[in-house]
Amino acid sequence: MTKKRILSGIQTTGNLHLGNYLGAIRNWVEMQDEYECFLFLADLHAITVPHDPKLLAENTYKVAAAYLACGIDPERATVFVQSHISAHSELAWLFNCITPLNWLERMIQFKEKAVKQGENVSVGLLDYPVLQSADILLYEPDMVPVGEDQKQHIELTRDIAVRLNHLFGKKKEPVLKVPDALIRVDGARVMSLTDGTKKMSKSDPSELSRIEIGDTPDLIKKKIKKCKTDPMRGLEFGNPERPECDNLLTLYMLLSGQEKAAVAAECADMGWGQFKPLLTETAIAALQPIQEKYQALMDDRGYLESVLKQGNQKASVIANQTLTKVKDALGYSKPL
Ligand code: TRP
Repeated sequence: MTKKRILSGIQTTGNLHLGNYLGAIRNWVEMQDEYECFLFLADLHAITVPHDPKLLAENTYKVAAAYLACGIDPERATVFVQSHISAHSELAWLFNCITPLNWLERMIQFKEKAVKQGENVSVGLLDYPVLQSADILLYEPDMVPVGEDQKQHIELTRDIAVRLNHLFGKKKEPVLKVPDALIRVDGARVMSLTDGTKKMSKSDPSELSRIEIGDTPDLIKKKIKKCKTDPMRGLEFGNPERPECDNLLTLYMLLSGQEKAAVAAECADMGWGQFKPLLTETAIAALQPIQEKYQALMDDRGYLESVLKQGNQKASVIANQTLTKVKDALGYSKPL
């Protein structure tokens, strides 16, 4: 029986944090046996916000090293760099020409990001979900595991595929495979340490809002010490009045690998003064082996490059096949 295929990626801006690890990468790690995994580094998406050319390549290596340090196994998963496979950009262009502008103007993430950037909003930021659609549809995945915030982008991807099939495909022979979103179950949505109603995010101006995968024990201690709590005694999951409490317990649950009921019982009578050192210790212990592996990988560029090269070879074959299929359907002549 052939395995179902999944595809996902992370934009290579800034350092990865616990939200990326617990909410995304860790789920991919668990899916590696059951699914054929295509996991890429979205470095074309990284320039939709102002960027520093001196850091662009390095950031890609950092995220690649983080994938592997967190447990992505390059023997089982195909790990590759978006910008190394030109089919991504090319298919995005073809999609641009069949995507109604108002589909993009509706995207919530665009509206939110555009507000933050004021006058500097690029066409690329608006077009971001079209490139994302190309990333996905090139590999004909069955499912795309993403966070709740990406749901609208996956729906757009499906809409673009259906539209292209309708306009240029034959009824019995669709050009593009329409994938499903695989939205993570709750509990894996990691929120900001300074506001339990906001997602933990690389773009939050406050570093205190997130724990990065590479944070030192001292920094982790400081961030947890300063994180937002509430004046109530006793800790509980799921109280809408206490979003910070729910988030910190969830973090503890995920980092300690315990069941929700066990954590709820353990912490029911705790105050913050008792809970915070426990969470700190657990976070430091959970991150330590990842940090050691990450450092070893960053010190072995040759190995990292070999992993990305192997991933590229495998991914580009599939990507180019799909691109050719789309170009044929649109009526292009073959390159001479
Ligand atoms: N937009 C995604 C994010 O911000 C990153 C991404 C780019 C992606 N292309 C993708 C995710 C394709 C899944 C599939 O998290």
